[in-house]
Amino acid sequence: MSFAASIIGTGCAFPHQRVTNEEIVKRLERDHITTNDQWIRERTGIRERRFSDLENPAEHNSSLGVTAASQALDMAGRSPDEIDQIIYATCTPDTLMPSTACWLQHKIGAPQAWAMDINAACSGFVYALATADQFIRSGQTHTALVIGAEVLNPFINWRDRGSCILFGDGAGAAVVERTERDAPARILSSHLLSDGNLWELLYIPAGGSRMEVTPGRYTKNLHKMRMYGKEIFKVAVRTLAEFATRSLESNGYTIDDVDWFIPHQANYRIIEAVAKRLHCPMEKVVVNVDRYGNTSAATIPTALDEAVRDGRIQKGHLILLDSFGAGLTYGAILMRW
Ligand code: ACO
Repeated sequence: MSFAASIIGTGCAFPHQRVTNEEIVKRLERDHITTNDQWIRERTGIRERRFSDLENPAEHNSSLGVTAASQALDMAGRSPDEIDQIIYATCTPDTLMPSTACWLQHKIGAPQAWAMDINAACSGFVYALATADQFIRSGQTHTALVIGAEVLNPFINWRDRGSCILFGDGAGAAVVERTERDAPARILSSHLLSDGNLWELLYIPAGGSRMEVTPGRYTKNLHKMRMYGKEIFKVAVRTLAEFATRSLESNGYTIDDVDWFIPHQANYRIIEAVAKRLHCPMEKVVVNVDRYGNTSAATIPTALDEAVRDGRIQKGHLILLDSFGAGLTYGAILMRW
């Protein structure tokens, strides 16, 4: 490997519509399902989330991606013409065909780029960034645009009060570029793993080629998310801690060396439990789940962008990204900013 990769720009975008817990309570009441703001806050840490207006093309998945990407390109001082690879992490694509990466390319230009989607659910951004890192290290890519974006709201199961409270929509982006192999600011390592045996913990039964959405299946809500929250909670805490440790140990670091820990934002209690296992003070953890809920592939890049823009992340900082998602998928990336 002759090169390394580093992030030189970040961006994020959220839809306009802010949905508070109280609004979720009212929506569920219409179907005689009870919940309340206190339960949601105490069990998840979520206060509100954003939902895309599905009728508004400016809030389609790829459009949120365009806004996030434009911000990232601005920060990086690059134009779409300079991108040679677009990797778009999403499990809620604009269309099954073509990829959301191609929709984004259509909207921003980038004529020199080749574009593809990655579906690793909530680990999507980590998988996409790891992929860009490898292409850049090998010399095949110079400048990559990596996006993690979701419009999850059409897949929320409003008959399941345990899951409908969790999710939101949004997009985060990063411009990743070639640098010297031993440059101070670079991606140090990525560790990825998936366990397809646990597919049933979070999935959408219908809508793929395995099961068409028919009127009967639509009535049964088979085109919506199914989640076994308690089981996911346990696996998430264990694997997030495991991958963080694996990532640090393989680079000769401990959690004390980390300046900012950015875990997947599924539930504040999961984040807290992982930080506790790692002996990581919460002051070093970047959190945005309270304001945006679980935006799946967008949680890590949006949290990263917030911490970059508000000045928490500074040159020379050690940053640990850590994810888990449907699949199940796991991954961690360690980088020096
Ligand atoms: N409002 C009020 N009560 C509720 C609600 C609600 N919205 N949802 C569930 N309850 C009730 C349950 O019915 C149960 O009642 P019971 O004791 O009478 O049976 C009680 O609250 C406790 O339910 P639990 O499921 O045990 O609650 P828990 O503390 O585990 O919290 C939650 C549930 C929030 C879903 C949690 O398990 C969780 O966050 N799991 C992880 C989910 C996750 O990370 N998903 C995404 C992962 S992958 C990805 O990000 C794509």
